[in-house]
Amino acid sequence: MTQLSTPIKDALQSAASTDAIQVQGWVRTRRDSKDFSFIELNDGSCLRSLQIIAKNTLPNYADVQRLTTGASISVRGALVPSQGKGQKWELVADKIDIVGGADDSYPLQKKGHTPEFLREIAHLRPRSNLFGCVFRVRSRLAFAVHDFFQERGFLYVHTPIITGSDCEGAGELFRVSTIDIKNPPRKNGDIDYAQDFFARQTYLTVSGQLEAEALALALSKVYTFGPTFRAENSNTSRHASEFWMIEPEMAFCDLNGNMDLAEELVKYLIADVRKHCPEEMELFAKFVDKELLGRLDFVVERPFQRITYSDAVDLLTKSGEKFEFPIDYGLNLQSEHERWLTEKHFKCPVTVFNFPKEIKPFYMRLNDDGKTVAAMDLLVPGIGEIVGGSQREERLEVLEENMRRHKMDPADYKWYLDLRRYGTVPHSGFGLGFERMLMFITGVPNIRDVLPFARTPGSAEF
Ligand code: 4AD
Ligand code: MG
Repeated sequence: MTQLSTPIKDALQSAASTDAIQVQGWVRTRRDSKDFSFIELNDGSCLRSLQIIAKNTLPNYADVQRLTTGASISVRGALVPSQGKGQKWELVADKIDIVGGADDSYPLQKKGHTPEFLREIAHLRPRSNLFGCVFRVRSRLAFAVHDFFQERGFLYVHTPIITGSDCEGAGELFRVSTIDIKNPPRKNGDIDYAQDFFARQTYLTVSGQLEAEALALALSKVYTFGPTFRAENSNTSRHASEFWMIEPEMAFCDLNGNMDLAEELVKYLIADVRKHCPEEMELFAKFVDKELLGRLDFVVERPFQRITYSDAVDLLTKSGEKFEFPIDYGLNLQSEHERWLTEKHFKCPVTVFNFPKEIKPFYMRLNDDGKTVAAMDLLVPGIGEIVGGSQREERLEVLEENMRRHKMDPADYKWYLDLRRYGTVPHSGFGLGFERMLMFITGVPNIRDVLPFARTPGSAEF
């Protein structure tokens, strides 16, 4: 059945032809006129629906007249120039097969639904205009990520999803275990993970970085693109418990090269989606965020700003703004501070770099001042942090010292330290949050609405 059918996207772009084609999809609306029924058919290949003309001479016309929104059909017929407004072609049906019916309880009716309601029907919302657009752009964006890195000679590597290390050291780990939680094996009172499946404690990865470093220190330029997991109990519009991250890692590269690459990537991805998804972008500009296209074009055209953490703290202190969270050297920048920098002060994306070592993970390279590390966060208007990265500590002794300062035992990371024992080189990388990038490009304000099936604290339905 599928091999023979034409995607509606192609049907709408094709030239006139008397040959019959077959299309398949879901009924958006149907209305009757005297001798016809008009069906708007959508198959998700594009935003637009194809108008089907069902004449009353069809043998199953009575069944066609009972079709309601949500039903699935397969239609054969010829494309003819449309008399109606807003479409080039319509399909005059020779044959309509009703594949699956739907009744009045179908929850996606033509009237607009709230994002909250649509989240409750995450299995059906891809059939709405908005979510069809989001998921088509998501697909294009993933493709563009690969294009960007492949064009630049990066190798795509796969890092493990199950891991024994806490890369970010933030303790936001989901445990992976097959131990019987009602009756765990014990040793000296504690649970004995030596008897667990992997004979050690394991978790879902929060980042593929540490393993990507090993690959970069052999293959020179690599990137990962996969799911990551954080048991962070923050119910915000920008945090998901399962999200996708793109993590490039480059040998022989310092922080400046790293910041250049991150900025180039962000611009490239925006320009790519602007070019390849014009219909979708128009819909977002019309219904989600009126200023979207202007903002994105501005971001692609203008250079980004760069500022050290300590200068950023100065600017924020002197801003005269009332913030909820305190600003002081040594404290993390909060989302409200990040947004002030990008939205109020610079009015464009900003890369903040050289953070105090105390607030950053163990692997970041200590700067010559002994106080800061070669870290960078790329912040964008409306979202805040979209990229986090750093130059990595390539000096064995300094790295061991960093670990001890972070209360980590260097013996647990022997393999990672080996990379500094044998042929160490300066190297750098970053992580781009895929969903945050998608939010920035589409203007969709909640991360739950750019993930097909979002996992957030207290919610893992579907
Ligand atoms: O800044 P983060 O924690 O950096 C790392 O994980 C490094 N190991 C990356 C590296 O250097 N290879 O996370 C990177 C990005 C953030 O800037 C953000 O865009 C996204 O991942 N991110 C999240 N996205 C959605 N939900 C969450 N809970 C996220 N946490 C981080
Ligand atoms: Mg970060």
